[in-house]
Amino acid sequence: MTAFDTLEPRPADALLGLMAAFKADPREDKIDLGVGIYRDDNGATPIMAAVKAAEERLAQAGGTKAYEGPRGNLDYCAAIEAFVYADAARPGGLISFATPGGCGGLYLGMSLIKRSAPTAKMWVSDPTWPNHLAVAATLGLPTASYPYADPAAPAVDVDKMMSALSAAEPGDGVLIQGPCHNPTGIDLTLDEWAAFGKFCADRQLLPLLDVAYHGFAQSLDEDLKGVRTFLAGVPEAILAYSCSKNFGLYRDRSGAVLVQSSSEAASEAVRTHLADIARTSYSMPPAHGPAIVATILGDAALTAIWREELEAMNARMAELRASLADALSPRSNSYDPQSLKAQNGMFSQLPFVPGGTDALKEKGVYIPGSGRINIAGLRRDDIARVGSILSEFV
Ligand SMILES: Cc1ncc(COP(=O)(O)O)c(C=O)c1O
Repeated sequence: MTAFDTLEPRPADALLGLMAAFKADPREDKIDLGVGIYRDDNGATPIMAAVKAAEERLAQAGGTKAYEGPRGNLDYCAAIEAFVYADAARPGGLISFATPGGCGGLYLGMSLIKRSAPTAKMWVSDPTWPNHLAVAATLGLPTASYPYADPAAPAVDVDKMMSALSAAEPGDGVLIQGPCHNPTGIDLTLDEWAAFGKFCADRQLLPLLDVAYHGFAQSLDEDLKGVRTFLAGVPEAILAYSCSKNFGLYRDRSGAVLVQSSSEAASEAVRTHLADIARTSYSMPPAHGPAIVATILGDAALTAIWREELEAMNARMAELRASLADALSPRSNSYDPQSLKAQNGMFSQLPFVPGGTDALKEKGVYIPGSGRINIAGLRRDDIARVGSILSEFV
């Protein structure tokens, strides 16, 4: 028997299976509401104009492909710090690293939680993005969940959330998503962010904020106000940022991790650990995506083009949300589709009847078993048809 013969195959990733089934489906009117990428009305995910312009500038500049160092592009790191803190006071210690996508930031963040408190648990919302659980499992970090929001509810159930988190021990990590919670689209309000910061600080919990959809809720300027309030109320925090969605750089793997500490000395120790974790896994982050972001954000004209494109994407999603809410007439009295209008970002979760998502596949509508739908996967012309198909199963 060889070494690999001893390996038990891992269960198939449900979302990748759904993507494969969608690809193999010959029907022209099939619709994919599963995969979490932004699509335009033609079902395409085009490269943003600001990104293309930045790439042209970079190509003309020549540059180099030499190693960049474990933190990656420092202008990029500074730009992400500016997004996160804006005009708010910076903490005593702050260090940021460019990472391979937001996932790289989550990997570094969870690794740091484990190094800081080897017996720590990682608390995640229920429901959450399944990869949060998978990254923690790969790192041998035990997970626990806190209730978050009923998919049909207008808001987070903060009392339930905090009551479950009362069982967390000092040093435990608490993952909380920034704007556009995946999968529910339901976010904390400004006051709730402030109260939650106090809660984490009082209990010495180590927050890990996952910001993957900055600019997809209200606007770039509004979306991180709650996160800033939270950060101002806690001595230590980790934040994973992704440029995959708001710059459309999915495959260029452009993310960052920011760590706020209470002193410069602690921050220096954090820096050495992050460098060590990076060095012993992927070594150094990809350079191309961060160079694009730094070029855009370092140039007022390109920034203006990018902001306008992002706003147009956001407006399209808001319009689709509203149209879908109006096109749904659910069988169940307990689900009010108007709640979709108050939710943020690309995702919402529909409470399908058991077997509903399989039956939908038969009708050419692809949705994962969790009931999460990608609003951006809808085309305007399809809304009435998709709304009436979905209504049969909610
Ligand atoms: C909640 C959440 N966090 C983080 C990410 C990170 O994505 P990436 O690694 O592609 O930047 C995603 C992407 O889908 C996400 O949905």
